[in-house]
Amino acid sequence: MADLQAYQRVAVMHALASHHVLGAISKGHHTTEALARVGQLHAPSLERLLRAALDIGLIAPTGDGGYLVTERGQRLDPDHPNSLYSAIMLSVEQYWPAWRALHQAVRTGLPTFQDVHGCPPWEWRRRHPEQGRFFNEWQVQQSRQVLSDVMVALDLASAHTVVDIGGGQGTLLRACYARWPHLQLVLFEQEHTLAALPARMEEDPPVCQVAGDFFRGIPVRGDVFLLKSILHDWEDEAAVTILRQCAQAMQDQTRLIIVERVLNRGLSPQAHMVDLAMLLVTGGRERNLEQYFALFSAAGLQMVRLTPTAGDFSLIECQRKLV
Ligand SMILES: C[S@@+](CC[C@H](N)C(=O)[O-])C[C@H]1O[C@@H](n2cnc3c(N)ncnc32)[C@H](O)[C@@H]1O
Repeated sequence: MADLQAYQRVAVMHALASHHVLGAISKGHHTTEALARVGQLHAPSLERLLRAALDIGLIAPTGDGGYLVTERGQRLDPDHPNSLYSAIMLSVEQYWPAWRALHQAVRTGLPTFQDVHGCPPWEWRRRHPEQGRFFNEWQVQQSRQVLSDVMVALDLASAHTVVDIGGGQGTLLRACYARWPHLQLVLFEQEHTLAALPARMEEDPPVCQVAGDFFRGIPVRGDVFLLKSILHDWEDEAAVTILRQCAQAMQDQTRLIIVERVLNRGLSPQAHMVDLAMLLVTGGRERNLEQYFALFSAAGLQMVRLTPTAGDFSLIECQRKLV
């Protein structure tokens, strides 16, 4: 039952990542004593942590009493192109306490994040910018993995202005621009998320940033609205409010392209874990097509096209319902 020890392996990775131990080894501090000195750690305990890290293949012995970082261990480096650093920090510090109360959520049907952290996730990340950064960085990593599938299914050749609502770090917009450089890009996001973006975001490619709250109104115009991994964060009433705000900002010809997992469409097992994460963290959910139809109907929208991608995500294209 190796699965039963999974939490221990994650704790080992988290301890190493928190103290940047593997980074220090890569910089030439090969022995426990040197590592304890640079990281101001308790050397005998660090030695015990390193023995566990060795067993799970994150480091290897150099032969002269020191350690080197294996290929697997290098993925804990924040600068690695496929880094797991933010995912580990996020999983242990934000999600783990909420997951520990899964049994409670199954009884109450309510998210547990707020109980353990004192407020809902978006507010908590606003109050703890470092944690917000872990979340944003992991969104970018994850988006990269699904982006190539989505880009094969997406067709914006005839579009002019594309608005990504809750577009995070602008990763999807940048991928759209790389394929269709004629596009005007608009990123609609929360003010503190925009404030934390790198300065280059406004220039390369040019992205017009609009700060706002998608529950209060979307004061932008565009012929394509993108909504990726947004609706699954919210329970039905909130999801309908977001869709209504989209419908109000849309013109008759505006295409609203929702990028989400659609249950019952042969998804990977990971999709059901994401669904549980939504129950625990945000109070949202993954939905099947009928559940999406109910949201669209309440928001004055209708589905005009459904395009599955090669992965778990589908593109659900909607327009305003014509009366
Ligand atoms: C799960 S992330 C998805 C980000 C991006 N669309 C992607 O797929 O990588 C949800 C995004 O919604 C944004 N968001 C949350 N509440 C919002 C609000 N009230 N108004 C605008 N954006 C919001 C968050 O800042 C976050 O970037």
